[in-house]
Amino acid sequence: MQIVSPSILSCDFLNLASDLKPLEGEKNLWIHLDIMDGHFVPNLSFGRPIIEGVKEHTSLPLDAHLMVSNPLFHIENLVSLDLHNITFHYEAVDNALEAVTLAKKHYESVGIALKPKTPFRSLSPDLLESIDLLLVMSVEPGLGGQQFMPSSLESVRQAQAQREKKQYSYQIQIDGGINKETAPRALAAGCDNLVAGSYIFNGPSTDYKRKVQSLRAKA
Ligand code: DX5
Ligand code: ZN
Repeated sequence: MQIVSPSILSCDFLNLASDLKPLEGEKNLWIHLDIMDGHFVPNLSFGRPIIEGVKEHTSLPLDAHLMVSNPLFHIENLVSLDLHNITFHYEAVDNALEAVTLAKKHYESVGIALKPKTPFRSLSPDLLESIDLLLVMSVEPGLGGQQFMPSSLESVRQAQAQREKKQYSYQIQIDGGINKETAPRALAAGCDNLVAGSYIFNGPSTDYKRKVQSLRAKA
């Protein structure tokens, strides 16, 4: 069963609790937290105080996606929040393997994210061996509601082929422009974890579970 990770970036920030409630109890579902610092990406989103609030209103696993220039600071800063997974960008650190090794001391699951133009082949075998999750961005990070970039599927296919060949254990997560049309393509390419923001939270229906389930079905 694939994991779906609704991104709260598309929620109504003044009513987060009511947007989280309809998702309670759904299996294989993570709450995706897009943390932006206004430097690595132009936008600012939220940090620790909002995540503390989210924790009070959901029992679902929390998945942090750090779009920040200084991930090591945030990795330390969020330690006590008991996040299920923390992912930071390959482009944001000088030595990704060192940063993953450090993060693994505190977190059960650690991921590396790739911007759409960063080739999968940039990642060394040592790094691929050490991560629990690879996040392939299918839009330029920084904003919800953008259009899916089909070129990202090539990175997913390479990640999947290498995983099979070398028996790596990372999950492949895709993030950006995921909806009913793009999800089956991502799953067919090898993704096991789909982030979706605007598809789930925008629009009139608050039947979020039904929208989550519509992403799981293969074409
Ligand atoms: C973009 C974020 C995404 C975003 C996805 O920088 O990483 O998680 O919220 O939003 P949609 O699904 O609307 O593209
Ligand atoms: Zn994200």
